[in-house]
Amino acid sequence: MDYELKKFSGNRVDNIDFLNLDFGRTFSDHMIQIHYKGGKWSDAQIKPFENLSFSPSMLSLHYGQTVFEGVKAFFTESSGINVFRIKDHLNRLNRSAARMCIPEISPQGLLAMISDCLSLDKSWVPKERGSSLYIRPFIFATDAGIGLRPSSEYMFIMFTCPVDSYYKKSRPLRLLCFGDEYIRCAKGGTGEAKTAGNYAASLLPTKIAEEKGFDQVLWLDGKSSRYIDEIGTMNIFFVRGDTLITPVLSGSVLDGITRRSVITLAKDLGWKVEEKPLAIEEIQKDIRSGEIHECFGSGTAVGISSVGSIQYGEHELKIENHNQESLAQKVRESLLDIQHGAVEDLYGWNFLIP
Ligand SMILES: Cc1ncc(COP(=O)(O)O)c(C=O)c1O
Repeated sequence: MDYELKKFSGNRVDNIDFLNLDFGRTFSDHMIQIHYKGGKWSDAQIKPFENLSFSPSMLSLHYGQTVFEGVKAFFTESSGINVFRIKDHLNRLNRSAARMCIPEISPQGLLAMISDCLSLDKSWVPKERGSSLYIRPFIFATDAGIGLRPSSEYMFIMFTCPVDSYYKKSRPLRLLCFGDEYIRCAKGGTGEAKTAGNYAASLLPTKIAEEKGFDQVLWLDGKSSRYIDEIGTMNIFFVRGDTLITPVLSGSVLDGITRRSVITLAKDLGWKVEEKPLAIEEIQKDIRSGEIHECFGSGTAVGISSVGSIQYGEHELKIENHNQESLAQKVRESLLDIQHGAVEDLYGWNFLIP
């Protein structure tokens, strides 16, 4: 894609304390902006990060016609910067866009621009293992004028933020499962798309969970409220015996890119992996009996996060195994080794910015 380049001329990066980053609050120097008008994506720019100006009647503000992604770029000692599974993220952006009546954007055209933009902001990629440059591409409806309809104009933006860990607490996560009191999405709804409304719907239950001392909500399917879907911003895994189990992608679960990576790496480590419907009551029973001896969540923002307990109904069931031998720890380290270029990238997951 042809684009215009306007370079940032100051020096902000030297004043950043990379060891004390507040997730998502620090922005690097450049962003990408592309317009959709007259049936095509055009007027592409890489330019300094700046505020935008819109009509108060802009459609996405009212009807939520918007999709987004979360991607990470990692510092490597030897070979530049690795952007992790960017093509998979851009493909998912387009799948989300299709569900939300938003026109697709060519991943190929975008990749070259993303590469140039990240190359300009290379010094913003934190060097510590586990830290990264979080990349937020998104598309939103920009037609001015209220009235429910798909917009005819859109904007694609990509900005980046240096980040360290998402959760500052070092203890394993405590999850609260509301049963059918709150659901994240309905069958036939938008659960599989990465779109704002899913997250807006989760805000109140998550706030209630946090006020009770929990970290995240564990969502059940919206039809029977029997089967586990996912955690607020993560997919979920349980270790039962010698098998890693995770809910099947039912249409209401986000097809997590980290989830895919975990499945591959766990198989490489010699574990069996099963994707299937997981009834909450069965999982409870297996936690109680000790058959399930580990649980963790996976996501781009959070990485691999151990889960220490799940409250469903009366009881908070504890899952104890969180030591160096845990599968979560092994998968976390394998993933970071690949992302930081410490081992060979056997699956071609890294997109290298030289
Ligand atoms: C609802 C939800 N599920 C799962 C995930 C994990 O997806 P990924 O591994 O692609 O980041 C996320 C994170 O974006 C999420 O928001």
